[in-house]
Amino acid sequence: MKTLNNRTAFVTGGASGIGLGIAKALASEGANVAIADVQADRLASALSELQSITSSVMTLEVDVRDKASLEDASSRIESELGPVSILCNNAGIGGGGKVLDTAEESWKNVIDINFWGVLNGIQVFLPGMLERGGPGHIVNTASFSGIQGHGHQSAYGSSKFAVVGLSEFLRNDLAETGVGVSVLCPHVVDTPILDGLRQRASKQVLSLIDGMAVSPDIVGQQVVSAMEQDELYIFCDGVQTREMLTKRCETLLAAMDRQFPPAGE
Ligand SMILES: NC(=O)c1ccc[n+]([C@@H]2O[C@H](COP(=O)([O-])OP(=O)(O)OC[C@H]3O[C@@H](n4cnc5c(N)ncnc54)[C@H](O)[C@@H]3O)[C@@H](O)[C@H]2O)c1
Repeated sequence: MKTLNNRTAFVTGGASGIGLGIAKALASEGANVAIADVQADRLASALSELQSITSSVMTLEVDVRDKASLEDASSRIESELGPVSILCNNAGIGGGGKVLDTAEESWKNVIDINFWGVLNGIQVFLPGMLERGGPGHIVNTASFSGIQGHGHQSAYGSSKFAVVGLSEFLRNDLAETGVGVSVLCPHVVDTPILDGLRQRASKQVLSLIDGMAVSPDIVGQQVVSAMEQDELYIFCDGVQTREMLTKRCETLLAAMDRQFPPAGE
């Protein structure tokens, strides 16, 4: 999507952290911005932050698990700001430790928000984007935990692998349309989602987190640039993550080489 000026964008989980960073970057490019969240107090402070950039902004209290409320949001946005052509399915929560230590309720809650929330957004907004024939763009927020399985993040990591897969298949589906698809895969971003981790962390881990954390405003700019270039994967840092991704690719290729050695060996 070459020009974001005057387009209408919808960002879920847009009242805080990465979502707000994306909303601010879009507003700075001249887009009309609607943000949705479940936290009314955060929506109110995000609104005044966004109003310092644009007057074309609105907030909606929407739970991404609830398709009917997304449908209602879609018509309200269309009548106030115009039809949505930029969809950022970003709302998400953390949750889940080791597989067997994670309660069933936690698995369901995390998958409901992190995976179904994204799918609901696509099902509600994509048909209109296609009917209008584009241009349009969808950005789904996954995580680097959806690219390489590190640590013990059962429910969270599984939901993010699912979002990466969904985005890859959606991009195939939409290849011949004017609607692009990107998947955002941040590693550590300085947002309130890290609060719990920060409280539990030792001094040493805390300084590690602080050393790695990228600002949500930078992530917003990275998302805008990926949209303009129609890039599938959006990574937010290439320091620790490069090593982790290399390890994953090497492990996969080594397994294939053991089972099906390259010709001539
Ligand atoms: N911060 C990180 O290090 C990091 C790393 C990788 C991926 N992510 C992902 O980025 C996304 C944004 O997270 P963040 O770090 O900005 O955290 P955040 O907590 O600042 O923002 C998430 C927002 O989503 C909202 N939300 C939660 N459940 C919702 C629901 N059911 N419906 C609508 N809104 C809901 C929250 O109220 C919150 O305002 C999440 O999907 C998260 O998994 C974050």
